[in-house]
Amino acid sequence: MIRDEPHRSGSTPAFGNPTLESSSEHIMHPPENTTQEKVVRVLNEDIESLKSTLREKDELLNTAQLQLAQASKLTTLGTLGAGVAHELNNPLTIISGEAEEILYTIETGSREDAMTTISAQRIRQAADRMRLIVDHIRRCIRKDEDTPWERVDITQLVRDSLIILDSQLKNRGIAITLDLGDQLPAVWGHPVKLDSVIQNLLTNARDAFETITDQREKKVSIMTSCRAGKTIVISVRDNAAGMTDEVKARIFELFFTTKKLGDGMGLGLAMCSGYIKEHRGSIEVQSKKDEGTVFTIKLPIEKRTRANASGDN
Ligand SMILES: Nc1ncnc2c1ncn2[C@@H]1O[C@H](COP(=O)(O)OP(=O)(O)O)[C@@H](O)[C@H]1O
Ligand SMILES: [Mg+2]
Repeated sequence: MIRDEPHRSGSTPAFGNPTLESSSEHIMHPPENTTQEKVVRVLNEDIESLKSTLREKDELLNTAQLQLAQASKLTTLGTLGAGVAHELNNPLTIISGEAEEILYTIETGSREDAMTTISAQRIRQAADRMRLIVDHIRRCIRKDEDTPWERVDITQLVRDSLIILDSQLKNRGIAITLDLGDQLPAVWGHPVKLDSVIQNLLTNARDAFETITDQREKKVSIMTSCRAGKTIVISVRDNAAGMTDEVKARIFELFFTTKKLGDGMGLGLAMCSGYIKEHRGSIEVQSKKDEGTVFTIKLPIEKRTRANASGDN
């Protein structure tokens, strides 16, 4: 049994400083339950106040995380901005050129119907391409909380993430190779977050070629496969600048960047790592200075589709 300390100098009882029963100096003390009740009440009050402080901190953290996600998305979109204008310009040029041809045909009656049909088909293709780009951007700027989690087809996700980046890479002389597993089972995920992970990795690979001055063939490859019927593996590989061990150790830190101000904010990989954790997956990096880098993402296959997974690809 635990009793409270004797009060020798008439000072206030010292809660939380109990001595053992063997103490022989008991003089007077309040009935035991009253003291214990007081201790419990004070402790409860302390716990409640700690809980509410924790709740407040938790809310602050959530708000900060949401703001961070939005900031990261905006930087991705910012870097995409120039690419988008360029991408929309190509089909626009086709549409106006072919429309001119059709008008000329009507005005002069000089062209065969077959040619007009081809012009109309080109216009339709160009318009489809523009719709693809606009839809992609619309998906990217949707608020994360407005997008539901769903079964995500990783092959489609990888193709979508290239809608705009594809020509950005090609314009810089970087060849892209896709080796996408056939009929991969779906993962349960947030399509916008997963899309921004792939885009971040590709943007980083693109940037890593900026410092390359030798004549190497610039290559980025994306591979997807299914491992043991349980995991989807996505790897993004480049043969660009690579990283030193010191840099590699810090890349997932928030605000860590080796890029100059305006080019990098150090948000991309921190967000990627957060998003992949939310999907109960993992992200790893292997890199060698001057040789290249490979990021490997592993995501669990959605349970409902696991039964249909064909095993290793
Ligand atoms: N593929 C890559 N090759 C070489 N370095 C990379 C690669 N990907 C990321 N890094 C390094 O990781 C750092 C952090 O990347 P990230 O979090 O996306 O922020 P940012 O791109 O804004 O710098 C980069 O500044 C770069 O030093
Ligand atoms: Mg980045």
